[in-house]
This record gives sequence, structure tokens and C-alpha cells, in this order.
Amino acid sequence: MSSTLCFVLGTRPEIIKLSPVIRACQRRNVSFSIIHTGQHYSDELDSVFFDQLELPIPEYNLAVGSGDHGEQTGKMIVEIESVLEEERPEVVLVQGDTNSVLAGTIAATKMDGIDVGHVEAGLRSFDRDMPEEVNRRLADHAADYLFPPTETSQDQLLEEGLPEEWITVTGNTIVDAVMQNVEIAHERSDVRSRLGVEDRFALLTAHRAENVDDRERFVSLLDGVATAAEEYDLPVVYPIHPRAKKQIEEFEIDVPESIQLVEPQEFLDFLVLEDDATIVFTDSGGVQEESCILQTPCVTLRDNTERPETVEVGANKIVGVEAAGIADGTREMLSMESDWENPFGDGTAGERILDTLGYE
Ligand code: UD1
Ligand code: UDP
Repeated sequence: MSSTLCFVLGTRPEIIKLSPVIRACQRRNVSFSIIHTGQHYSDELDSVFFDQLELPIPEYNLAVGSGDHGEQTGKMIVEIESVLEEERPEVVLVQGDTNSVLAGTIAATKMDGIDVGHVEAGLRSFDRDMPEEVNRRLADHAADYLFPPTETSQDQLLEEGLPEEWITVTGNTIVDAVMQNVEIAHERSDVRSRLGVEDRFALLTAHRAENVDDRERFVSLLDGVATAAEEYDLPVVYPIHPRAKKQIEEFEIDVPESIQLVEPQEFLDFLVLEDDATIVFTDSGGVQEESCILQTPCVTLRDNTERPETVEVGANKIVGVEAAGIADGTREMLSMESDWENPFGDGTAGERILDTLGYE
């Protein structure tokens, strides 16, 4: 069996951000197969997105699951290589900066006749302690096609010596995904009444290893968000990633009362929450982009970002996890008009990627 393209994906954001490329393949009759590493496997991080985005069930699910970086990535490389031997695609597409991206890239790049395309190339936090920073750098330097979302990320690739002819600025596929789904989301979702947030509210997501695996940082983040939101009488809704949930239990953290912990939300419900929130607090990459696209002010609970475009247009403030910084950032973001430009493109990234690969 052979398909033209193989998508290697494994986590919630990769499923969402590759969905526009997969749809574009379907529209153009480009044959493809999906290799799911199984890095995310809980229904609420995985199968709900295939259902809701009406994506085909992956031909291959490697069921690698959770584990230390070496074990997880190593198992993925072995399994992906064996599937690629069978499928022999022309191109393998990976998206973003997870361990699944690194594994897909390493497996494919050493195989004769298979090119690698990296979607969302050129992002840099310049923080090498983040596993994601290592993954995205290595993927960029092993790939044959680089699809940076913006001129800023393109410039970074050029500065690192990558050849101009390998690079195409496409916009970010998350714009495609938001544009394809936000109206439907508002029509169909009852999330606000279900969660009891029919008035003004703040939305929180936090799952990044450097925040939730460190008790002191995690407590400071939660207390800081609760205090900043209380100043504006905002209840906080926190759809909690399983990693963060596990850490709250393990560290026996008392979550402030104004923060309502809820299950991870399906994409359409989450889009409604992001669109309707008075303010978003997050350490997620994708959520910084989506709140920028949806004109909702964002306060980022990190010391850096690989999405500087959101800050430059005035949509996002990077504040760390200390209470004073979170409160100042919240005041600043809520004192401004939400009328910035979307820096991430016009929602045709999926089509542009296929154009560049020559699949008309
Ligand atoms: C991974 C990515 C991160 C991305 C995030 C998206 C890496 C290094 N990290 O982080 O960049 O932002 O996905 O959400 O690739 N777990 C479950 N169910 C699951 C998956 C995980 O309960 O389906 C729990 C397990 O306890 C696991 C922990 O979450 O040990 C961490 O999972 P892992 O895949 O290692 O990283 P994420 O934190 O999800
Ligand atoms: N998301 C979702 N439900 C949630 C939280 C997030 O559908 O409860 C979506 C969100 O819309 C975005 C993506 O998940 O598209 C972001 O994933 P995550 O924050 O896990 O990873 P990151 O972007 O930081 O890698």
C-alpha cells in the first residue's frame, strides 16, 4: 500500500492544526495516511477531536503512550520507521514541537525518497530548557520543506542558515481551523450554560511542564490568576489538562475557590470559551494564537514566548507566574481596545502547503 503523503501526529494541538491540511488533501484527492503515535490517548485529548473535526480514523495508531522523553521518542521512531517502510510516501508532514514531531522527523529524514515538511517552522522561545524548543529546532534543521507561519519565523530560519528555497510562509493553519469552526461553534455549543458562565468570565489553561511540574510555580500561577481575576469580579474556568490534574493531586494543591476546574473541552466548546471570555490566562502555544485571532486579550503565564507576533500586535502580555506581574498584565490588557491585526495569515495555510508541495 502506498500513499502520497503521510501525516505523523500524536497530540491534541497537532490534530487540530493539521486538520485544515487533511481537509485540503481530501478536497484535492491527494492520497494520504495518518500515523498517530498515541502520545495523547485519553479520549478528551484525542478521539473527540477526530470526531468533531470529522477527520478519518488514523490508518496506524502506534499506541506509544506516556513516558520519559527518551523512551517515548525512541519507541515512536522505531514504529514510525516500520510504517514508512510499508507506506513509502513522497512526503511526511509533521506540525509543531512535540516529541511526536521529533520522532516523525528523525524517522523520515533518513529514509531514501521521503521528504519531510515541517508545518509551523521557525518558532523560537530561545529557552533551551523547554523540550519543545529542542524538538522544533531539530525538526527545522532536518526537514526539506519549511512552512513558517509568519515573516518573523521565516527570518529566524534564514538567520540559522536554512536555504531560502526550502522555505514558504503560509500563515498558521490554526487560522484556517478557527475560521472553519468558530461560527459552527457558536451555533452548536451550550458550553456556557453547561459550565454556569453566562456572565463575564476568565478562561485559564496551564499544562506546560515548567509550570505544572514545579509546585512553587504552579501554586503561584493559580493564586496569581485568582487574585488578578477577582479584581475584575471574574470567575475563572480552567479546563484542566491531565498532566496538570495529576500534579495538583500529587502536590496536594488547594486550588483557589474562584477557579472552577472542568474537564478538557471539545474544540468547538473551547473556541466559544476563548471567543467569549473577558480575558484568557494561558501557558499554551495554540491558545496564545487563538485568543489573538479571536480578539480576546491574553496574559501568558510564562517567562518567554515563541509567538512574539501576538505581543507585537498588542494581543498578549508575557508576565511569568508571580502575582504582581499577573495583576499588572491583566490591568494593562483590560485597559486596551481589542482591535489588533491578526498576524497569522488569512486562513489558507492548508491550501498553500499543498500548493508548495506541488499537489494541485
Ligand atoms: C505534550 C507536548 C506539549 C504540548 C502538549 C499538548 C512534548 C514534549 N510535550 O505535553 O508540547 O503542549 O502535549 O497538550 O511533546 N496524559 C494523559 N492522557 C493523555 C496524554 C497524557 O493522562 O492522553 C498525562 C500522563 O500523565 C502523561 C502526562 O499527561 O504522563 C504528560 O503527557 P506528555 O504527552 O508527556 O506531555 P504533555 O504534557 O501532554
Ligand atoms: N483546546 C481544546 N480544549 C481544551 C484546551 C485546549 O480544544 O480544553 C485546544 C485549543 O483550542 C488549541 C489547542 O487545544 O487549539 C492547544 O493545545 P495545548 O494547549 O494542549 O497545546 P499547545 O498549543 O500548548 O502545544
